[in-house]
Amino acid sequence: MRIFAIESSCDETSAAIILDGRQVLSNVVTSSEKLFAETGGVIPEEAARKQLEVMIPVIHACLHESKLQSSDIDAIAVTRGPGLLTSLLVGTTTARALAALWKKPLIGVHHTLGHLASPWLTAEKPIDEIQFPILTLSASGGHTDLWYRTSHTKGKLISRTRDDAAGEAFDKGASMLGLPYPGGPSFAKAATTGDAKAFAFSNPLAGTDTLDFSFSGLKTALKYTIRDTANWQDRIPDLAASFEQAICRHLVDRIEQALETYDETREVHLVGGVSANTSLRAMVQKRIQLPMRVSTSLRYCTDNAAMIGSAAYFLQQEMGDAAYAPFTTQASLPLESVVQA
Ligand code: KG4
Ligand code: ZN
Repeated sequence: MRIFAIESSCDETSAAIILDGRQVLSNVVTSSEKLFAETGGVIPEEAARKQLEVMIPVIHACLHESKLQSSDIDAIAVTRGPGLLTSLLVGTTTARALAALWKKPLIGVHHTLGHLASPWLTAEKPIDEIQFPILTLSASGGHTDLWYRTSHTKGKLISRTRDDAAGEAFDKGASMLGLPYPGGPSFAKAATTGDAKAFAFSNPLAGTDTLDFSFSGLKTALKYTIRDTANWQDRIPDLAASFEQAICRHLVDRIEQALETYDETREVHLVGGVSANTSLRAMVQKRIQLPMRVSTSLRYCTDNAAMIGSAAYFLQQEMGDAAYAPFTTQASLPLESVVQA
């Protein structure tokens, strides 16, 4: 089954064609990242304006790259939420128009289900069969949650962040240190030459019996550390490394704790933009005994249409025609709707 997918939930515009949920035949991603590097963050209406301009060229590029035509496509998939409403509407309106024009069924996908499907993606031949049950840490600019899944659509949300997301902590931390947007990659780069033990940041929600995450305290701690450190501008690598270490430690602590309860787990997956972080990957490999799986390419960690095409395929496989049900475009969509008990 070949699915043509569109994703435009934030500042990116992406189109992809996915074969049987796994093989990426084409994945084109453009982003207004450079535009927003100047403003230090995304301006929603500007993002949507740019997406309107590039959507059709991106679709053409995607078809061209795959050497396929609309007649080779079996279904269309699109991110229906959550995200910036104006950006989402550019994607869903385009997808509805294409579905009508090409006479194909349409599948609306929760953005998070896309991230959860990203470890299945590969540009070459399909990777080994992935083993459920899976514990997945999904961490990006908008969410940080832990999932236990027995299939693509069955399982439960174990915990989530009580305040900021992990990627948001990187983004805000980077802006405090004067590092460019998006914060995660520039933070990770600055941290490579720093000493992670130089500054001590305490563990969030320490002493409480919870699997939830919290990052706002770390952000405040970074603010005070900068205020109280003379010539902090000369210590940016140490500050970045110590703060990065604290974020990763909090994420891995929670995976470790969750595995005590969910002891039938066979694989641990890291998805979302923050899963691109190499310190996080190294820490999971060091502390967690189970096989760890991340996307086969960094391009599938951050927002992209390939993961939406993959999730749509698995939705169709597990739900049948119910996957084609009409849907609304929504800026906020409950996380609980991603999987069913
Ligand atoms: O999944 P994503 O592309 O978009 C959202 O759905 O939010 O994630 C973007 C987030 C941003 O906060 C970005 O700073 C973070 O992922 N990120 C990273 C890295 N690359 C991207 N965080 C830490 N280390 C990285 N290498
Ligand atoms: Zn995302």
